[in-house]
Amino acid sequence: MKTRITFLFIFLLTFALNAQENIVVNTNTTQMVLKVDEDKNVKFEYFGKQLNALDDLFKANSNLDADAYPAFGIRPDRIMAIRVKHANDDRTLVLKYQSHDMVTVDDNVSLLTIHLKDEIYPFYVDLKYKAYKAEDVIEIWSEIHHTEKKSVTLYDYASACLPINARAPHITHFHGSWAGEFMMEETELDHGTFTIENTEGIRGSLGDNASFILSLNQASSEDDGEVIAGALAWSGNYKISFSRDRYAPTILKAGINNYASDYILEKGEKFTTPALALTYCVEGKGQASRNLHRYARNYKLIDGKMERKILLNSWEGVYLDFDEEKIVELIDDIANIGGELFVLDDGWFGNKYVRDKADRGLGDWEVSERKLPSGLKYLIDESEKRGIKFGIWLEPEMANVESELYEKHPEWVLQNTNRELVKGRGKTQVVLDLTNPEVQQFIFDTLNDLLVKNPRIDYIKWDANMEIANYGSTYLSKEKQSNLYIDYHLGLQQVLKRLRQKHPHTTMQACASGGGRVNYAYLPYFHEFWASDNTDALQRIYTQWGMSHVYPAITMASHVSASPNHQTGRIIPIKFRFDVAMTGRLGLEMQPKNMTDEEKNFSAEAIKTYKEIRPIVQFGDLYRLLSPFDNDHLSSLMYVDEQKQNAVYFAYYVEKMAREKLPPFKLKGLDPNKRYRITEINKFDDKTHFKGDGEIYTGEFLMETGIKIDFAKEYDSAVFQLNQM
Ligand code: DGJ
Repeated sequence: MKTRITFLFIFLLTFALNAQENIVVNTNTTQMVLKVDEDKNVKFEYFGKQLNALDDLFKANSNLDADAYPAFGIRPDRIMAIRVKHANDDRTLVLKYQSHDMVTVDDNVSLLTIHLKDEIYPFYVDLKYKAYKAEDVIEIWSEIHHTEKKSVTLYDYASACLPINARAPHITHFHGSWAGEFMMEETELDHGTFTIENTEGIRGSLGDNASFILSLNQASSEDDGEVIAGALAWSGNYKISFSRDRYAPTILKAGINNYASDYILEKGEKFTTPALALTYCVEGKGQASRNLHRYARNYKLIDGKMERKILLNSWEGVYLDFDEEKIVELIDDIANIGGELFVLDDGWFGNKYVRDKADRGLGDWEVSERKLPSGLKYLIDESEKRGIKFGIWLEPEMANVESELYEKHPEWVLQNTNRELVKGRGKTQVVLDLTNPEVQQFIFDTLNDLLVKNPRIDYIKWDANMEIANYGSTYLSKEKQSNLYIDYHLGLQQVLKRLRQKHPHTTMQACASGGGRVNYAYLPYFHEFWASDNTDALQRIYTQWGMSHVYPAITMASHVSASPNHQTGRIIPIKFRFDVAMTGRLGLEMQPKNMTDEEKNFSAEAIKTYKEIRPIVQFGDLYRLLSPFDNDHLSSLMYVDEQKQNAVYFAYYVEKMAREKLPPFKLKGLDPNKRYRITEINKFDDKTHFKGDGEIYTGEFLMETGIKIDFAKEYDSAVFQLNQM
């Protein structure tokens, strides 16, 4: 991981402060200030724009008057960050400042730790603030440990609990469901508490995403206004709440969801809460997104500077119904149109229980001899013969009761031993107990053996299609059953860490019934997310728009699929489908042999075009222009490279209204003083949408006056490349 602290660069300063002195965390344009008061309480003073050094912030009196990590029991507060039961059953906690240290990780990154201890018990909390200067992001989390005689129970354990001065707080969040992820919604915070959370156990983002944009003083805008955007890096159940009081600051609290999760912490064990990444800016949510995207690509995302391949995934093309010949045909088809990778989805495994249907075989990760008699090696050879790479699907955390794995290890699945198992997909699916180290080892071995035996496998799609339904573990002790939701994900992390040590660069996709696992916690291990099982290009415009607020385009797997679409039945031209998929990591997921020759030729050209614009899409800065959520029948966005020399602009006509006169399309993010040639690309039938195609304009004109795009009908779309002259 790029964030690993290199000892050469560490510059550690330890302090013990006098009362009333401030502790400051800086990024290039923002600042967070904490203070130790005369009773050694650590107070949260300020988060916002960097203050001018001349304004003596060390004496500035914040009106926030809140503990930095409010603890339940003795000191009153509105919202508590932590609540525990000590070994002697005492339920009170009073955390006092001990010292703090600041580590300079490198020129751009610093890490502040504030050490707190209970007044009487050997119970410790370290507050962590990690600043990424250039990205204007600060991560906040806490680390909890104790040396009490017996275990301690943690009832509440926030990553962060911040007071925020907000005149009219508006919260944007991303709710959804299977096939409808990332529906963006903004709501003014009423007095009381507004919460986004997940409690299903496995697919943390199948409902709401663990991220938000908080606009402080009015409804948010793309280009101006004070906003705080946040993303919590936790793969399991999470909870983010905003509490508004008429007379006091709004409190943002975020962390692991304590739902059914009283956590038993042994003496000497450390409980590390997940990092909440926050960015503050005064330039609206567009800049907040760009900050998070850069932070993700530069520091969190595995191989964040490596281009992603264009692939064909077999799922919507053949589902579970295939043999060797059909697969080789698919490989041939994607190679012929210029693709770079073929991914064999579900259906390739199981011998006693051949995976012909989705109700059997999970857990038996050996190649089906009936379906693929020549084995994986043959398919990899066939791919490589055609100059493309090979990838494969697994659902490693799951089993079917119709599997050899379950027959051998029924104790490995999550269960309540007094009750019948509730089963998921196919009425046979169950979840393996990842709290159990033997299960962790099994999953590691499954993946490791596959990659060791087939070192030319380039890509793994890791799926997860069930929630935690049977609350119970045969591995955890009776007393620790309530650690289940959390220990499951710590177990998953262990497996992923080990896999990454052994196979650092195999591309991996996180999928969970579509976008059920879109979260920053996965970025160090997974190169991308399957954003949704809904591949309908129109609906994808909405899902991808929402997702783009927090996750960079390089992480957004986006596939061109069949028309009529399999989820909605909608008929959409091939160009529009490509133009949508090209705003993320382009792929295809269909039966290419059902395409007309004209569509095939277009696809080959579109893939060629994508290769040219890929660096701008995958590494550029995103500017959102016309939101589909505004119901103006249009949507548009663009990516601009860091030097503002090259850009690519996408526009879509999503609903046609008779006699509608479309406004000029204004661009963003360019240098007003530079001159750009604007060229329409990805044209169908050589049809141009813009009379000035190929001509040169100033950035100022393009951004302030805009261009006239002639959209003829619904699902018409246009893509333009801009190059500085
Ligand atoms: C759910 C995923 O989201 C799909 O893309 C596909 O991989 C199926 N599972 C396969 O069972």
